[in-house]
Amino acid sequence: MLNKTKVALVTGGAQRVGAAIVRHLHAQGWTVLVHYRHSQQAAMALVGELHNIRPMSAFSVYANLDKIDEIDALPKRILELTGGLDALVNNASTFYPTRIGRASLDDWNNLISSNARAPFFLSQALNPLLQEAHGTIVNIVDIHAQRPFKQHTIYCMAKAALQMMTYSLAKELAPKVRVNGVAPGAVLWPQAQTASAIANDTQQQILASVPLQRSGCPEDIARTVSFLINDAPYITGQIIAVDGGRSHTLGLE
Ligand SMILES: NC(=O)c1ccc[n+]([C@@H]2O[C@H](COP(=O)([O-])OP(=O)(O)OC[C@H]3O[C@@H](n4cnc5c(N)ncnc54)[C@H](OP(=O)(O)O)[C@@H]3O)[C@@H](O)[C@H]2O)c1
Repeated sequence: MLNKTKVALVTGGAQRVGAAIVRHLHAQGWTVLVHYRHSQQAAMALVGELHNIRPMSAFSVYANLDKIDEIDALPKRILELTGGLDALVNNASTFYPTRIGRASLDDWNNLISSNARAPFFLSQALNPLLQEAHGTIVNIVDIHAQRPFKQHTIYCMAKAALQMMTYSLAKELAPKVRVNGVAPGAVLWPQAQTASAIANDTQQQILASVPLQRSGCPEDIARTVSFLINDAPYITGQIIAVDGGRSHTLGLE
């Protein structure tokens, strides 16, 4: 089915920050592909919500991004659904501590795969569609790609790789495809009582070091992604920190 509106794929788009990016782009008239792995119900509910606003303007797309064959199957699926792709937002991620002495090879594989390996292979697989559309990639990085977050060495290493991928692909995919990143600070705490959870006192310490003295919200990230996709035709190879100023105080607390 050929669709003339612009099409964006948001990985991990069923909930939290990804869903905010999906809703924001959709409200601007984009057709959205909501990628999910475990969050099928949330993805279906979001697609239903967006269909009610504009029929046939949202589709869910399943893939376990740890599996290269599932990544490689996506271009065909996207062509069937929307006939092309204008923007890829690499948002999917896993996040949890890996204390020294306790980190395992599984931790390494999970964190490196979701935050660095998958964005690379997905960008590579979708590059022909993006070249065709003169499209764009936005990688959701982290301010901790540059300054470490205690007890999260492997996650920080993975995001540092994603940061370098942003700079490198901006050169490799130019002149047709722009590649940029957004680096969130404290935007949405991981769910309590999960492996990712951040203790209350650590949350308070983090917020105390934010010059704007508060956390951000998923819409802050969505607005910046939208800026890079829609309003920044001469920007490539840049990463914008959306962190209330925290990256300037990190490591100086
Ligand atoms: N939240 C923050 O304050 C914050 C701060 C700094 C950076 N960030 C970055 O901003 C982005 C969004 O943050 P978030 O907190 O909203 O993310 P999140 O809830 O931790 O994860 C988003 C989604 O990623 C998907 N995912 C993870 N591994 C996957 C895999 N191997 N294959 C397929 N899907 C996978 C999951 O989808 P399913 O549920 O469908 O499995 C998950 O719901 C991430 O890149 C994160 O690193 C966030």
